[in-house]
Amino acid sequence: MGDCDRPIGVFDSGVGGLTVFRQIARQAPRESLIYLGDTARVPYGTKSPQTVIRYARACAALLLERGIKMLVVACNTASAFAIDALRDGLDVPVIGVIEPGARAAARKSRTGRIGVIGTVGTVASGAYEKAIAGVAPQARVFARACPLFVPLAEEGWTEGPVPESVAQTYLAALLDHGIDTLVLGCTHYPLLAGVIARAAGPAVALVDSAEETAGAVRETLEALALSRQSADPPTRRFLVSDDPDGFERIGRRFLGCEMDYVEWVDC
Ligand code: DGL
Repeated sequence: MGDCDRPIGVFDSGVGGLTVFRQIARQAPRESLIYLGDTARVPYGTKSPQTVIRYARACAALLLERGIKMLVVACNTASAFAIDALRDGLDVPVIGVIEPGARAAARKSRTGRIGVIGTVGTVASGAYEKAIAGVAPQARVFARACPLFVPLAEEGWTEGPVPESVAQTYLAALLDHGIDTLVLGCTHYPLLAGVIARAAGPAVALVDSAEETAGAVRETLEALALSRQSADPPTRRFLVSDDPDGFERIGRRFLGCEMDYVEWVDC
């Protein structure tokens, strides 16, 4: 198999990164993709940077053993804490979700007042602030951790009074800061985009990190001449470090379709 025909590896702490996988499959449909959900260690969002870096290295090593040509860190928390550590050690391109999301936010915002929502870890890391400052130094960023959105999305409670009220409570302080753009800085939040958009109101533009990351993958494939050449249909593989059945059951909502087979791996 030529270098270009090798799969793209995508990993996340669990099911959430399937929102990124889904966007990559949509924007780069000829590419073979291999997904690893580290379901034995989920959640990453409450863990320390050192621990997340260790887990992220293990995920990357497993995917590299499978012969990937590019690594996509679909998890915001892992991107926030581990992207530099991964880039230092690997000889394949490594794409995280923070930089594409930050670039899109800087592009969309008219007032330069940008809100970011994510896990406790992502918000504590200041990674979005740093990435936005790199492309829009005059912008002001207001961040808020929204941990309850993760279980709501996994439970399928994405509409109705409970998520509406949680979204209104979380976003109130950000809206007081007069944001005009809001980054969905967690894999799970695209599933709650409806309630988040309603709580934020029509004056606030949402940035979906998953969609932006898939655009970055496509551009990087082109720039590095790594696009797949084979005429065979592309493959899609799903690996998990625990509970393949639970992953498949919850994951199909994140992926938007069924998974053929989910393989357990010792990661
Ligand atoms: N995938 C994580 C993220 O995007 C959310 C779930 C977790 O805490 O592991 O930050």
